[in-house]
Amino acid sequence: MFEVRRMNNEYELCWLEYRRLPDWEIACHREWFKSAVPFAQPWEVETALTELKTFARDALGTKMLVENTIQNQRTIILGKIDKLSELFDVPKLEREGSFFLAHRKLSGKDTLVIGAIDTAGLVYGTFEVIKRARLGESFEKMNVVQTPAMPLRMINHWDNLDGSVERGYSGRSIFFEKDRVILNRRTRDYARLLASVGINGVVINNVNVRGKAVQLIDDEKYLKALSKLAEVFGNYGIKLYLSVNFASPMYLGKFETADPLDDRIKKWWKDQARKLYSFIPDFGGFLVKADSEFNPGPHYFGRTHADGANMLAEALEPFGGVVIWRTFVYNCLQDWRDYNTDRAKAAYENFKPLDGQFRDNVILQTKFGPMDFQVREPVSPLFGALERTNQILELQITQEYTGQQIHLCYLGPFWKEILDFDTFARGRGSFVKRIVDGTVFNRKYCGMAGVSNVGRDPNWTGHDLAQANLYTFARLAWNPDELVEKIVDDWITLTFGKDEEVKATIKHMLMNSHRAYEKYTTPFGLGWMVNPNHHYGPNPEGYEYSKWGTYHRANHEAIAVDRSSKGTGFTLQYHSPWREIFDSIETCPEDLLLFFHRVRYDHKLRSGKTLLQSMYDLHFEGVEQVEEFLKAWQRLEGKIDPVKYKRVLERLTVQLEHAKEWRDVVNTYFYRKTGISDERGRKIYP
Ligand code: GCU
Repeated sequence: MFEVRRMNNEYELCWLEYRRLPDWEIACHREWFKSAVPFAQPWEVETALTELKTFARDALGTKMLVENTIQNQRTIILGKIDKLSELFDVPKLEREGSFFLAHRKLSGKDTLVIGAIDTAGLVYGTFEVIKRARLGESFEKMNVVQTPAMPLRMINHWDNLDGSVERGYSGRSIFFEKDRVILNRRTRDYARLLASVGINGVVINNVNVRGKAVQLIDDEKYLKALSKLAEVFGNYGIKLYLSVNFASPMYLGKFETADPLDDRIKKWWKDQARKLYSFIPDFGGFLVKADSEFNPGPHYFGRTHADGANMLAEALEPFGGVVIWRTFVYNCLQDWRDYNTDRAKAAYENFKPLDGQFRDNVILQTKFGPMDFQVREPVSPLFGALERTNQILELQITQEYTGQQIHLCYLGPFWKEILDFDTFARGRGSFVKRIVDGTVFNRKYCGMAGVSNVGRDPNWTGHDLAQANLYTFARLAWNPDELVEKIVDDWITLTFGKDEEVKATIKHMLMNSHRAYEKYTTPFGLGWMVNPNHHYGPNPEGYEYSKWGTYHRANHEAIAVDRSSKGTGFTLQYHSPWREIFDSIETCPEDLLLFFHRVRYDHKLRSGKTLLQSMYDLHFEGVEQVEEFLKAWQRLEGKIDPVKYKRVLERLTVQLEHAKEWRDVVNTYFYRKTGISDERGRKIYP
C-alpha cells in the first residue's frame, strides 16, 4: 500500500516527494547516505548537500554527516573535477552542467563520486544520484557521464503581475500577486523541481508585457525583490530572465520613440542594462515578443527585427546577457476574404531574409509549428532555414489547445516526433534536435523553451498527470535522444511508486492520450475548431470569419487550405524531399493531410476509407479511448494516494463528457455539410 503523507498543507512536490522507501531499499542505500565528503568550497556544494541530507532524512530516515575525510565504509564524495583529479582519473567534462557519477575504491573504502565542473553540475549530479536511489538502482557499479544536449533549457512563464496567468490552468501565479513579487518556500521548491530535471533558465513574466510589468526592469522595489529571487534560483543553477516591452523607453524613459537606431534609445537600454546587472549580477537576458499580436516592435519605427534585437543585444553583451527574440510574427488583422495571405508562411517570410544579420548573443525562438501550438502541425520550416542564426524551439507545456489540463494529453511522444524531424537542411540527419542543440549549424546559444503549465494549485499543474509534461519537456531538453517510454517510466515511479499495475496503467494512459485527444478534436492536422479567445471546447467555425488567419473554408465538397505549390506555396519553404512529399496529396503524411491540402470529403485515404468516414470513425474511437482511460484509472482505486486518485478521477470524468461534446459537434458539422451518414449507422445528430 502507499503511504499518504502530505509534505505540508499547501502543496505537494510532484516527482520530488521523498516518501519513505521500503525497508529492503533502505537497507541497500542507507549506508551510502550516512556521510558526505566535499571536495569544493562550502558555497559550491551547499545546495547539493542540503538536497542529499533531505533525501537521507525523509526517504531513508538517516542523518547525513558532512565530514572532512573518508571514514565510513561507504561515502558519497562530491566535488569539482579539478580537485577530484588529484585523487583519481576523472572524465573530461566541458559544457556547463556536465557531471559524472562513479563508484571508486579509495583507501579500501567504497565511495560514490559526484564530480562536475560547476555548481550546477553538482546539483544535477546530486539529483541524479537521488533519482537512481529512488528507482532502486545499486551504486556498486555506477559509471555515468552526463552532458546536457542543449545549452539553454528554459521555462517561459506567461505570468502577469496581478497574479493572473495567461493560458494558465493551475491556479494563480507562483511569482506575482497584486503587483508584487512573491518569494516564499514554494519559490525554492520550484527551483528544486526544475533543477532536478536540468532546467537552467526561467522567464518569470508574460511575453505580453503590459501595465506594471513594464517597470520590472526599472523600479528599484522590483529589482530588489528580483535579485533575491535570482539568488534562490541561482543556487540551483537557474538564471532569471525577463520579458520586456520593446517600447519601454517610451513608457519608462518618456521618449517619443523607441527607434532602435536612435542613439538616445540605444544609450537608454545600455544604462538600463547596467542598472539591472547591478542588482542581478547573473541575470540571463531578455525575452521579446515584438511586432506580434499588438506588441510594439521595430516595425513601428521602420526598422527590422535584426535592428531591434541587435540594439538590445548590444546593451546586454558587456554583462554576458542574451536576447531571445520570438519569431511568432504574423498579420493578426487579416481579412477572411483575403485568400492570398497564408499565416503559416509568416514566420519564415519575416525571418529568413534576416538570417546572418543578428549579433552572436541574439537567439530566435520559434514555435514548433507554423501556426500556434495546435494538437498537430508540421514542424516549422524555419528550423531548417536559418543557418547563421541561433535558435530555440518553443513548445507549449501548458495545454492551451490541448485540453487545458482538464483533458489528459501527454505531449511527450509528439514532442519527440518534432525533435526527431529531419529538416534535411544539411542533408540527411539534420534533425530539429541537432539544430537546437547547436550542432548542425555550429551555433553557440541554442536550446528549448517550454511555456509553463505551473500555478499555485496544490499539485502545481491542475491535472496531476500534467506534471508528466513538465517533467518530460525538461528531460528532452537535457537529452532529446532519450526514449519517451523511459522518461515516462521514471516519472511514474518517482510520482506514484513501484506497483506494476499502477505503472503499466498510467503509462498506457499517458502514451495514448495525445492521439486520443487528436482523434476526438481535429485530426488530419486540421486544428482551430475551438471556441475563440479561451480556446476550450468545439466550435467548428469559431475562427472562420475572424481576423486571425486561421481558416478551413469548408463547403459541401471539401475542407482546408491548399498550401501546396499550386495553392499558397507554403510547402516550398521546406527542403527536399519534404517539399515534394508535403506538396502531393498522394505522399503527404495523412495525419497532416488537412494542414497542407484542400481535400474532398470523398477522397479515399490509404485505408480505402473516405476522408469523411475516417473523420467519423476517429471521433468515435477517440471517445472510446477516453472511456477506457477512465475505467483503467478506476481499477487503481486503493493503489494510489486517494487525494491524487480522486483529483484525476474527477478530471477524467469531465474529459469524457467534453470528448463526447467534441465528437458530436464535429461529426454533426461534417454531416450537415455533406448530408452523408456514417456507414456504420452510429448516432450522428442531424
Ligand atoms: C497564442 C496565445 C496567446 C499568446 C500567444 C503568444 O496566440 O493564445 O495567449 O500570447 O500565443 O505565444 O505570444
